[in-house]
Formats: sequence, C-alpha cells, structure tokens
Amino acid sequence: MATQISDRYAALQELDWDHLHFYVGNAKQAAHYYATAFGFTIAGYAGPETGRSGSASYLLVQNQLRFVLTSALGPDGAIAQHVALHGDGIRDVALSVPDARAAFATAVENGAHAIAQPAESSDEHGTAILATVGSYGDTVHTFVERAGYRGVFLPGFVPLAREPAAPSRPDLRAIDHVVGNVGWNEMDWWAQYYSKAFGFTQLVSFDDNDISTEFTALRSKVVSDARRRVKFPINEPAEGRKKSQIEEFLDFYHGAGVQHVAIATDDILKTVQALRDNGVQFLETPSSYYDALEARVGRIDEATGVLRDLSILVDKDDQGYMLQIFTKPLQDRPTVFFEIIQRRGSMSFGKGNFKALFVAIEEEQGKRGNL
Ligand code: FE2
Repeated sequence: MATQISDRYAALQELDWDHLHFYVGNAKQAAHYYATAFGFTIAGYAGPETGRSGSASYLLVQNQLRFVLTSALGPDGAIAQHVALHGDGIRDVALSVPDARAAFATAVENGAHAIAQPAESSDEHGTAILATVGSYGDTVHTFVERAGYRGVFLPGFVPLAREPAAPSRPDLRAIDHVVGNVGWNEMDWWAQYYSKAFGFTQLVSFDDNDISTEFTALRSKVVSDARRRVKFPINEPAEGRKKSQIEEFLDFYHGAGVQHVAIATDDILKTVQALRDNGVQFLETPSSYYDALEARVGRIDEATGVLRDLSILVDKDDQGYMLQIFTKPLQDRPTVFFEIIQRRGSMSFGKGNFKALFVAIEEEQGKRGNL
C-alpha cells in the first residue's frame, strides 16, 4: 500500500520551495523596504523596460530565499484586482519540481484545481516550464521546472546587481513553513485537499483547547510532503468570547490567504537584533513569559535576559527546542506577517507559545478596535 501511494505521487516526491510571489500596490517601494529592513538583495527586474507590458516585478534574494514583488501599471487586470480586494498579499507559493508537466498531471488527477496548464517560457538563457494549481482563496501554487534555465530567475527578468541596502545584516536562510488562514469549518477540507492532490500527510493538529485564550480561539492542522521540506499549517477560526484573530485576517484579506511565512535562520539573536536595528517591528512578549521560561523549557544555550530583551519565544518537544518571533503585519491591513525561526532539534510549530503569543496579538488587535 505504501508503495502504491508513493508511486501515485512520484512526480511530487522532490517538491521544494521555489519562490513566493507577492502582489503589491507599489513594488518599487516594497522592494526597497524588504531590502533595507530585511537584508534582501534586489537581484532582478521585469517590466516595460525589459519588454513586459502592464506590470513590473522585482526579484529579492537572500541565501535560499526568493521573493518576487509585482505591481500592476494600471487599474485593470488580475494583479490590480487582487491588490484592490486583498491589499498587499501572497498570490503564489511556488514550488520547484523536476518535471512540472508530471507534477501538474499528478496533482490535477488527484483533485487539485487546474489554473494554468503546463507551458514553456524561454529567453536567451534557456527554458523553464511552469504550471499552476489552485489553493485556498485566490492563492495558487505554480510548479516550477527550472533545470533548463540559467538566467537570474525566470524568462523576462534581467539581473540587477544591487548590493543589500540594509544598514544591519540579518541572516535569513530559507522558508521553514507557510501558513494559510481559511474560513469557518474549512480547515479539514483544505488539509484533505493537500493530502489528496499532493500526497501530503498530517504532521500535527491543534484544537481550540490548545490554541485559545480568554478571548479568541483557532484550530490548526499541519500538512507536509514526505521529506518535510514543504510544510503548510492551515488555520481556521473557532468560537471564543471575542473575535478570533483568524476572523480579523479573513475580514481584512477578504477571504482565505497566506497568514505568515516562517523564515529559518541559523542565528536568531543576531538576526532579530539586526532586524530591530533596521526598524522591523515585532510583537512584544509579556515580561512574565520569561519568568516562567526555564521552568517550562529547561536549560537552553541562549540567556533568558537576551531573549527577554529581543522578545524571542522558546518552545520544545521531545526532539529539542526552537526559538521564534513574529513581526507585526507587513502592511497597513492586519494580514500577512513573517515569523523568524531557529530550530535546535525541535520540529514544533510553537504550540507551547500560542497562549503567550495570542495574548500579545490580542493587545494589538484591541488597539485597532477589532477585539
Ligand atoms: Fe509559524
């Protein structure tokens, strides 16, 4: 039986992160923000000057991270409509595969929504093959086959050799996980979607007893590929005394979408200090959290006082511990944000921190009058 399942999903066995594609109101300014605050290099560009009409895109890179920011140059079309409805947000969680045609065929045969059939895209640097399937809300997954392409990113992009503009240099390495918020009672459906269409398995599940405070509640399931490269936690709101933070997201994003991107670092103390120096705003943690820290997680390498100064959270499981912190929303709408994470053995998603974190989130939600 195990062999049959792995055969059926053979085309998706080497799935990995390729890039995140953000649709934003002003890609030029957003690129400057991500470069200056988060230490990305603006490494590529596509727009009218390079033969593209209707939109402009900037490629941001840092270690294994690739983000693309795209803006429409007029009021019509899918990009402008996406930004009008959702605000700045993540349209495409693109995944690299060795064979995009086979990946698309496998996913669609097993129930994925077909958005764009496999198509070749070429320029003087070679050929990439792209195919797209749907996910929650207006979010999509593009399968990217890039073995035949040698350019800076994908056909149409020209290289820009701009050095990072960040005054203080963080060390952001790769995507750890990408979290989706879906509507009331939709979590199970979307977890099933990934298990059927991509052959993903469920890693963990949290119910509203795990993830609730006096006021708000949510449920979460984490699905992943067999190699545990691509991890998708999926949240849905649950009834609490006041409005769930997931519901606030759904109201402002106008539907389901990517809530946060967790970015792995090998040095969270240095990275968070650098990001703070560059003006990145984080959710602050109540000081009382650190009074109870050693009793909860035991002795760890990092000094409690430093973690308290930086507001870094710690969680543990039977395999080790992990350190994490969450930025405030990256735009005026209280929608997408980043998590910075350093794993020291633990595969946890921070269950032990949910309560401490949500108290902090709710303080912010209350300030906006949405609690
Ligand atoms: Fe997370």
